This record gives sequence, structure tokens and C-alpha cells, in this order.
Amino acid sequence: MIDDADRILLQRTLDLAERGARTAAPNPCVGCVIARHGTVVAEGWHIAPGLAHAEAMALDVAQEGARDATVYVSLEPCSHHGRTPPCSEALIAAGVGRVVVLSNDPAPHASGKALLQLVDAGIPVDIVPDDDPLAIAARRQNAGFRSAQILGRPHVTYKAAQTLDGRSATRTGDSRWISGPEARARVHELRARAGAVLVGSGTALTDDPELTARDCDPPVEQQPLRVVWDRSARLGAASRLAQTVSRGPVLLLCAPGADASRRAAVAETGIEVVEVADLAAGLDHLHARGIQSVLCEGGAGLAGALFGVGLLDRMIVVVAPKLLGDPLAPGLLGESGAASEQMADALGLAAWSCERIGDDLWVDAWLREPR
Ligand SMILES: NC(=O)c1ccc[n+]([C@@H]2O[C@H](COP(=O)([O-])OP(=O)(O)OC[C@H]3O[C@@H](n4cnc5c(N)ncnc54)[C@H](OP(=O)(O)O)[C@@H]3O)[C@@H](O)[C@H]2O)c1
Repeated sequence: MIDDADRILLQRTLDLAERGARTAAPNPCVGCVIARHGTVVAEGWHIAPGLAHAEAMALDVAQEGARDATVYVSLEPCSHHGRTPPCSEALIAAGVGRVVVLSNDPAPHASGKALLQLVDAGIPVDIVPDDDPLAIAARRQNAGFRSAQILGRPHVTYKAAQTLDGRSATRTGDSRWISGPEARARVHELRARAGAVLVGSGTALTDDPELTARDCDPPVEQQPLRVVWDRSARLGAASRLAQTVSRGPVLLLCAPGADASRRAAVAETGIEVVEVADLAAGLDHLHARGIQSVLCEGGAGLAGALFGVGLLDRMIVVVAPKLLGDPLAPGLLGESGAASEQMADALGLAAWSCERIGDDLWVDAWLREPR
């Protein structure tokens, strides 16, 4: 059983885990609090692969203060010998009095093992129920890690801005800018946390975006992989993506049999060109490279295609206080092949929330919850 005092410290583990949000991958973000009678003794979080796990960092700070204390952790401790020793053994050796766990480790080689070891060592373990909002938040925090482990593909978020009447560009293709500066700044933070930023060829050709994470605080240490879905390799050598390869890698995913001279012209710029059969194969390729989370920044054509094959997990839609009043202007999702004729058949969201950012509404919608 967990009580309100436990909940405060569990929330703290999520806040600490956030500190690794940009750097922990391919490991999960994890936060840990060691407390005695509700008073924090030590805190830890996982920064990056090869560095201490959250529990190890907190135990190192707590030293003897960990004996008989309660350990709160946002993800089940590890039980295996990886780049660092198992946290389950370290917790047992430190003589902790109780462990409270917010989410299970979805990795097949890890799931449940540490908890059994702790219980076998006589340490009471409380697992927060799956449907508890804190447990849901913990799984969302590691959506990419969980998707990679459970589904064998990256987690895909589609971020787009729209007018209040649901348009993502004018009929001439102009979309700069729909949202305000505050929302656009937050998008750079999303990029900084993503393994890859993905756009369709229409967006790459029309908007000529750079897709780097800029003006972040603190500045970005490593740019996400920038990916263009461009089946016929139409991206030009003069494009901003091609011109900024030195700022971070760019990958063009094209169809097998795409024109060889165009592929060669793209590759000449330093962009990596890879052939994939379809969108699922494109995500498989990203998974094989260790990419756990993809931020798709449009356009509607690509997002519709992803939606149609069940590869959209989350949508972040920035709704701007503007009206276009043009039924010929594009919406958020292009042709998906999955259109519902009856409202009763529309896909319901698993969860959503919204907040105001500047003059815009920031809608965070989960098509499915991370398992
Ligand atoms: N409001 C916003 O947030 C926002 C964001 C981005 C862009 N935009 C605007 O949106 C416009 C561009 O959007 P768009 O929809 O024209 O282009 P897009 O989505 O960027 O490009 C269409 C993409 O969909 C792919 N595609 C189409 N059908 C497919 C299928 N069945 N299977 C796999 N892939 C498929 C195309 O592949 P191919 O490469 O083979 O054609 C192409 O990569 C621009 O005006 C831009 O300014 C707005």
C-alpha cells in the first residue's frame, strides 16, 4: 500500500528521471529517492549509458543512511550485470528497509527479477498499480524505451500546428507560422529529446526545414537524427538539410528502385541514403540503429500514411487562435486509407490533456498508452 507521503516522493522520482530525458537513451530515464520517515536522505537519477544507475547514485550519497530506509524508484531496479553492477544486489547489500516501484521494466531479460530478489532477501516491495496516474506518467516518460522493448519499433509522436478551423497550411502550402514563439520554442525541446525527427518529402521540399534542436536551455549536446521520408529521393543538394549535415546527421529513406542519379546526388551532400520497402520497414531500420523515439513533424500526407498503418502513438497538436476559412486548405491527416464513415467508428483517444502556451493551446493526445 502506498500513502500520500509515498506519492509525493514517487512524483519526485519522476522529476529526477526527467534530468536524463535527453541523454539516457538507449537506457530508460530513472529517478530514485531514499527517504526515512518521509525525509529525503539522498536522490539519484540516470544520466547516460555507462554512468551510475539512479539507485546506485542515491545509495552512494546515502551511504549508511540507506539502512532501513525506504527507496522510491520510478522503474523497477535492474538485476543483471551490465555496464554497471545490478541495483537489486546493491539495495540488498545496503540493508534498505522497503522498496516502492512505480513501473515495471519491460525488458524481457529484466522484468520482475529484481523484485523477486528483493522479496527473497526479506525486503518488502510495493508496486504502484498500473492504472495509477503516477504509474501511467512513469510509462509515458519512457515511452520510447518501452516501445523498443515491447513493440520492437520506435515510439512515434506526430507534432503539428493547426488553425482553430483545423488547417495545417494554406491551400498554397504556406504554414509559417501557425503557432506562436512560445510553442515553437517548446518544439525545439521535443526535438532535443527525440532520437529522430522525421518529415515527409512534401514538407522537406515546401518548407525547407533544418530540423535541428536550437536555442534549448541547456544547449543540445547531440542533435537528433534528421530523417526525410522521400520515396523517390527528390530532396535537392541545395536544401537546408543537405547544407547543414555538419550540424548533425541526416538520413533519407527512399523506396527500392528510386532513381540512382538522384540518390547519388543526395548522397554526395553527406546525407545517408537507405532503401526501405515501406513505413514499417523505415521504422525497423531506425530501431536497428537504436532509435527509440521519433518526432514526426509532418506533413499531413506522411502523418496520414503513418496513421493508416497503425504507426502513430501520440499527437501533439498546437491549436492557434486563427481561422483560414478555406475548405481546400489541408488538415492534420492526409489520406490514411482508414477513414471512418460513421462518427461511432472514429478512433477514440486513450488519453489527452491540454494547456495554454502563449496564445496557443497545446494538446497532448495519446492514441495508445505505452505498455
Ligand atoms: N502545420 C504544421 O505543423 C505543418 C507541419 C509540416 C508541414 N506543414 C505543411 O504541410 C505541407 C506539406 O505536407 P504534405 O502533406 O503535402 O507533405 P508531406 O506529408 O511532408 O509529404 C507527403 C509524404 O507522404 C508520403 N506518403 C504519401 N502516401 C504514402 C503512403 N501510402 N505510404 C507511405 N508514404 C506515403 C510521401 O512519400 P513520397 O516521398 O514518396 O511522396 C511523402 O513523404 C506544406 O505546406 C507544409 O508547409 C505544416
